[in-house]
Amino acid sequence: MEKQLNGQKILIIGGAKYLGLSIARKTSEAGAKVIIGARSIEKAFQAVSQLPLANVIQIDITDESTIAAAAAELKHIDHIIITASAHHNAAIRDLEHDKIVTAFEAKVIGPMLLAKHFAPILSSTGSILLFSGVAAWKPTPGYTVMGVTNGAVAFLVSQLARELAPIRVNSISPGITDSGTWDILGKQEKEALLKNAAVSSLVGRAGTSDDIVNTALWLLSAGNISGETIHIEGGARYL
Ligand SMILES: NC(=O)c1ccc[n+]([C@@H]2O[C@H](COP(=O)([O-])OP(=O)(O)OC[C@H]3O[C@@H](n4cnc5c(N)ncnc54)[C@H](OP(=O)(O)O)[C@@H]3O)[C@@H](O)[C@H]2O)c1
Repeated sequence: MEKQLNGQKILIIGGAKYLGLSIARKTSEAGAKVIIGARSIEKAFQAVSQLPLANVIQIDITDESTIAAAAAELKHIDHIIITASAHHNAAIRDLEHDKIVTAFEAKVIGPMLLAKHFAPILSSTGSILLFSGVAAWKPTPGYTVMGVTNGAVAFLVSQLARELAPIRVNSISPGITDSGTWDILGKQEKEALLKNAAVSSLVGRAGTSDDIVNTALWLLSAGNISGETIHIEGGARYL
């Protein structure tokens, strides 16, 4: 599987940290030429310095002009991975219009515009990998925007897979995963979150970055899979 990535040009938007960076590290170690797309070039350069074969390009997924400029500069790409998110977790009574729009821009509108500008320069044997999330399948008060944007991602991949074929388009739907993003909660609160995730899954544990990275690498080379959302959450959506 990893042999097939050797020499492939992979753009990872959101690749400067967390799951995006973990995927960047593994694909780069497998010999892929990784380009990290990030809205902050400085953070991305710091990330690139840890990777054997990587470069950086400025892309803000909520800004079409940066997407178009990146496509014009890169000219050819084999695979694109987008981990960007802008969550707006709030009760319905507290929802804010602009934050809802940004959440849709990061997960749904941005990837659509990215497909618009990058499909002409994507390899016909290449793929696009988006990120959904378990919230779409587990309605929970306070997480409506997250649930609906993640659900839209699953519909988006089937639409894009049909229209961009033979380019493959898939998504991964993680459950609560210890990717680094939860460190912001502090040690105790993060441990409580992961513990709760463990008892809320069929396999009795929270997700790890490796769970996601291994599936992402497999999907890049899975030439007969398109339009799918792969659930990496230990069956959490059934509890
Ligand atoms: N970790 C989990 O428990 C979990 C669970 C379910 C679903 N997911 C999904 O999995 C994906 C990756 O999650 P994660 O754990 O790695 O953490 P995350 O905090 O969702 O990571 C988001 C990444 O996107 C980048 N980003 C945000 N806005 C952007 C924009 N406008 N343009 C370009 N890049 C942007 C961020 O970098 P900067 O902020 O530095 O720009 C960061 O690298 C997300 O879509 C998330 O919703 C994660």
